[in-house]
Amino acid sequence: MAAVRFLDKDGTFTLDKAENYSYLYLPVANEKGLKAAVTPDFGGDSKVDQNTFLMEPVSAENLHNNRSTRNFWCQIKGIGSWSVTGASAEAELNRFTEEQEESTLTAGFMWQTVTRSSEKYGLSAKVTSFAPLAHAAEIMQVEICNESKAARTITPVAAVPIYGRSADNIRDHRHVTSLLHRITVTTNGVCVRPTMSFDERGHKKNEMVYYVCGMDGEGNSPRDFYPTVDLFIGEGGSFTHPRAVLENRDGVKAGYHAEGKEAVGGIRFEESTLQPGEAKTYTVIIGVTDDTDEIQKVAADYATSAQVNKVLQKTQNYWQKKVNVKYYTGNEDFDNYMRWVSFQPILRRIYGCSFLPHHDYGKGGRGWRDLWQDCLALLLMNPSGVRQMILDNYGGVRMDGSNATIIGEKQGVFIADRNHITRVWMDHGFWPFLTTKLYIDQTGDIEILLKKVSYFKDRQVERGTAIDEEWDSAYGEIQKTEDNAVYYGSVLEHLLLQNLCAFYEVGDHNIIRLRGADWNDALDMAEEKGESVAFTCAYAGNLRQLADYLKALEKQCGCTEIEILEEMQMLLSDEDTLYTDIQAKQELLKTYTKKCRHNVSGRTVAVAIDELTESLYSKADWMMEYIRQKEWVNDGADHAWFNSYYDNHGNRVEGKYDNNVRMMLTGQVFAIMSGTADEKQVQAVCESADTYLYDKDAGGYRLNTNFHENKFDLGRMFGFAYGEKENGAVFSHMTVMYANALYQRGFIREGYKALQTLADTALDFDTSRIYPGIPEYFNAEGRGMYAYLTGAASWYMLTIITEVFGVKGSFGDLVIEPKLVKEQFDDDGNAGVHLEFAGNTFVIRYHNAEKKDYGAYQISEVAAMPELDIRMEGKKAVISKTSIEKSNGGCYTVNVILK
Ligand code: G1P
Repeated sequence: MAAVRFLDKDGTFTLDKAENYSYLYLPVANEKGLKAAVTPDFGGDSKVDQNTFLMEPVSAENLHNNRSTRNFWCQIKGIGSWSVTGASAEAELNRFTEEQEESTLTAGFMWQTVTRSSEKYGLSAKVTSFAPLAHAAEIMQVEICNESKAARTITPVAAVPIYGRSADNIRDHRHVTSLLHRITVTTNGVCVRPTMSFDERGHKKNEMVYYVCGMDGEGNSPRDFYPTVDLFIGEGGSFTHPRAVLENRDGVKAGYHAEGKEAVGGIRFEESTLQPGEAKTYTVIIGVTDDTDEIQKVAADYATSAQVNKVLQKTQNYWQKKVNVKYYTGNEDFDNYMRWVSFQPILRRIYGCSFLPHHDYGKGGRGWRDLWQDCLALLLMNPSGVRQMILDNYGGVRMDGSNATIIGEKQGVFIADRNHITRVWMDHGFWPFLTTKLYIDQTGDIEILLKKVSYFKDRQVERGTAIDEEWDSAYGEIQKTEDNAVYYGSVLEHLLLQNLCAFYEVGDHNIIRLRGADWNDALDMAEEKGESVAFTCAYAGNLRQLADYLKALEKQCGCTEIEILEEMQMLLSDEDTLYTDIQAKQELLKTYTKKCRHNVSGRTVAVAIDELTESLYSKADWMMEYIRQKEWVNDGADHAWFNSYYDNHGNRVEGKYDNNVRMMLTGQVFAIMSGTADEKQVQAVCESADTYLYDKDAGGYRLNTNFHENKFDLGRMFGFAYGEKENGAVFSHMTVMYANALYQRGFIREGYKALQTLADTALDFDTSRIYPGIPEYFNAEGRGMYAYLTGAASWYMLTIITEVFGVKGSFGDLVIEPKLVKEQFDDDGNAGVHLEFAGNTFVIRYHNAEKKDYGAYQISEVAAMPELDIRMEGKKAVISKTSIEKSNGGCYTVNVILK
């Protein structure tokens, strides 16, 4: 990590001349809705949602030609004008020359500071950006210091262009929407209240006010203002060469009003003379609100630099505390790196999968699989609200086992599909159990399976293949019974529907159909004949584990039967002849989904848990054996692995074609994770993956080999350049799941390699060119792409905690079973993790004095302070739930001696 250096143990890092690297941006957001991206020169954008952008929306490619930055100028009497944020025509010209100014970026969770000094102007500046917790606003604090030997008379000017409308209008009606602007100048700043929110499908009255206000560090109001682009840049000027600043033009005063213009929060402060060594501070606030009184309040709350400093400190502490997991290995950079990885799931909760420069798709909200996987990290960091979240999310499942795909702004509110396209992602039914299982393990609350929840209902029926003409919006989006009552079924019933309907939805090879796509969104062109072996394995694993958990439920609750909807009974059929009969399976599913096209009967039947588990085991066993027999492919020589897919011609995708070996990682991951692959097969898969997919320089295991074909009978991914995104990049999410699967199966060295290569590549700034964190993928040149908002982060964190440190719940007990390799201990053989579990804080400390490798050590002693009931179960130390539950808010240190 040549260029990026960590400064502490909280992830704070620093980078010199950060503007010399492309595509860098930091998320700055809060829980009041503000979502911003801030580049080293304070470009990027800022918004609340798709229709409420404070600054002009930017994609990654706009970052290097973006003029819409949060600029702050200093007009220096007798010398010239300096952009203290480094966003001027002059700074750009000087970049990479000897004239380039010195600058250093320092950043942490949701804040960045850039210091810059100019010999020419004899000044230095320190600019900090962050989002206070209390308002949908950003604060930019600027401190200017006279570094020269003579007095300097300066006139500071803040300039933040105010876009103030929907992202949709970035090109569509950009000019017309500026005509809606009503701009007012107040004593502190510029407010823009557009008359309406422009939408040709139905314009709406607008209530939002966008504002930029400023004051000096003592709370004094500015001198005058440049509230429009015309006034600020002047005829022929530009944002990096603004005539108002360069010519020190007079602005307009409070009370000024303009209509139908592009707006700027252009704020000129009083002239001030700084003696050598003297500094002066200014504050700029950029925000949006539907309550005009709030603007006064904001200005008062952050009026002086002392107030701003206090709020900054509070904000920094808040986000640090939110990430309540700390890691200790022999590698301090890695431990710091993990702080950022652990912060990422929080970012994705806030930003969804939209709203950062690389994430220029979607309009906010999160997809179904992302939602469930983000919950994994939440369960580790902030489990208190998760139970309700899980229950609410199950309300998105339809009676046919499919689900609404987008979760709106509010928990429990669903949208069938973002673009009104009827499609079914065949993997969606898989994820909820995974998350629910972790919830049960961490909390012991297995009874959640019996909790009743409603179902989602809309026009889509029969797993997206038909329309329910009887349904209309008056019916509502909750499933009803023939008696017009809302139908509630247990969480378990929802899970059975998701996994059993998938079991029957097979294609020509008796493998579950790919439908719209699976985890790999870019396998979206094989709707008719495509099949996903990868997720057939995954569902098989679910059916088996669901049965395991049902047995545990029986034991814990003493119940021998569960209730399911009468219509569903047929899904439990388990004659051997049915399993091999593709048509019979398809017909059975059709019959069932037709039965619940509109209303369900509402009648339930009791099924013995024994019978149910037998049915689930028998299905899972059959699927796994079938895949082991039929889908084991090879390269024509020594390497073998699992085929992952069938294409839209019904052809097997992987194996050797002419001289081209085609291998995909996804099938291997789920074959291993589900237990479909036997020991020998896992070994063989690892060797094949090392031969065909591993590329250390690219960051680790690639998602697939190069097919050298625009394979449009499988998906759009083959249209992407090879080595990019879903076409063969090192796609972090799948690589981490591969590692996770390997750890679960006891292949520790192999799992470590997959995990560590990702971290090493990300931390190698010279190649990855990203701030610390795990990116969605590394591109063909090794650059980290799509920073921050990736499901890979949740999985990375989960794997490090529950597998590598081996600290995890098991029906509420805390199990300790380290799988650290020797490199993960420090020189004295120490390693540890600090986390929350069941309302208490745990510091788990490992001591491996001889620095033995995994496999050579075992737990020889374990003791907690204060004391807890700990027993050994084979290689694991287990702390009982009852013992942990005796306290809440307690803090335990558990010392584990490894010998
Ligand atoms: C993204 C999507 C995820 C999808 C994946 C592969 O991954 O968010 O739902 O499964 O692409 O197409 P992420 O950015 O979360 O790593």
